Parts: sequence; C-alpha cells; structure tokens
Amino acid sequence: MTFRVLDEWAIDSTLDQFLRQSLQAAFPVDQAIFAVTRAWNCCAPSFTILFEDDTGKLIAHGGVHERVIRIQGEAVRVAGFQNVFVNEPFRGRGRVDQLLQRMLEESARRNFDVAMLFCKPQLIKTYARTNWVYEPDRSVINITASGTTAPVAAINQMMWHPLIRPDLPAGPVDLRGYDW
Ligand SMILES: CC(C)(COP(=O)(O)OP(=O)(O)OC[C@H]1O[C@@H](n2cnc3c(N)ncnc32)[C@H](O)[C@@H]1OP(=O)(O)O)[C@@H](O)C(=O)NCCC(=O)NCCS
Repeated sequence: MTFRVLDEWAIDSTLDQFLRQSLQAAFPVDQAIFAVTRAWNCCAPSFTILFEDDTGKLIAHGGVHERVIRIQGEAVRVAGFQNVFVNEPFRGRGRVDQLLQRMLEESARRNFDVAMLFCKPQLIKTYARTNWVYEPDRSVINITASGTTAPVAAINQMMWHPLIRPDLPAGPVDLRGYDW
C-alpha cells in the first residue's frame, strides 16, 4: 500500500476525471457537482493524497484546500481537509485513520497552523479517533453567496487538529468564505 501526494498542477485531465467519478460514487447526493469539478462548495484542493493498494487500486482519497481564517482578528493558516472518502470495498477497516494521518503529516510539513474539516455529526467519533477536536459550543461563521454572514449549517460539524499551532485562539471562527 502506498500514498501519493499530488499538487493540483500534477493532476492531468484523465486523473481528474477518474477522481470525479470516484467522488460521485462516494457522495451520491453531490453527483452533479463532482460531474463538473472537485472544487466542492467552490473550494478547490491545493493538493490531494491518494491511498492505493499494491495493484494501484484506489483505497482512499483526501483533498486539502488552503485557507486563511480569522478568530478574534487573529489570522490562522488552515489546511482544509475535504472530499475524504474510502472506496466501498475497503470500508470498515479503519483505512480512513491511515489516510488522515498521512494528510496531517503532509500538512504539517507544509507549515499549516492547524487542520480543519467539516463532517456529518455521525462521523465525529470516527475522526476523534485520530485526535480531531470537536468544540460544539464554538460558533463557525461562513459567507453566503449573497455576501452576508451566517453560521455553518448543523449538518457540517467543524473539527480541527493541531499542526504547527498546538491550539486555536478562543472565540468564533470566521471562515472568510464558504466552508469546504
Ligand atoms: C466515512 C468513511 C470515510 C469511513 O471510512 P472507513 O475507513 O470505512 O472507516 P471505519 O473503518 O472506521 O468505519 C467507519 C464505520 O463504518 C462502518 N462500516 C463497516 N463496514 C462498512 C462498509 N462496508 N461501508 C460503510 N461503513 C462500514 C464501521 O463499522 C464503522 O462504524 P463504527 O465506527 O460505528 O464502528 C467511509 O465510510 C466513506 O468514505 N464514506 C462515504 C464518503 C463520506 O461520507 N466521507 C466523509 C465525509 S466527512
């Protein structure tokens, strides 16, 4: 089993198409988006990690979207984990933990302050296994298409993980754009 770290410029149109097909299979409700782009919620990955078996078959995938957010005015450079999936035949064996660990290592190497993701409430316990922090009382604000601010929808729960910074400043998170 191997991991491939690919900067966005290294993904050609054939691989882009394969990844979009895989994303459509993993996220059926978002098929229309992934038929066109991997930039979910208009947030494109800067780099992508592919976890593959010895025959080159895709086990799991994660994208990392770069963002500078603000908390009480303080800028925080965030590795935004997005489009994380484990291919159906490989699920239920903790493969997601291995993928996340590799994504965290690579994000630390690239000097991000922290990693952050948004997940369905039922996956909080899965991510907590790899020491992702869940703070249900912290408010997270995004900017809607009309330019107004609004809390991120409850279906997308924010979790974060220390990298260069051991902690996040206290206070509401201003994503300064969409969640990813
Ligand atoms: C969520 C996901 C990444 C978890 O990956 P994974 O490597 O299968 O994770 P785990 O092995 O820890 O299994 C997670 C849960 O799925 C259950 N599971 C077992 N076999 C399964 C299967 N064939 N299909 C789906 N889930 C299965 C496990 O029992 C486990 O439940 P538990 O935590 O209550 O024990 C994967 O199911 C997936 O890609 N889902 C579709 C895309 C998605 O929702 N991505 C997350 C976006 S935030």
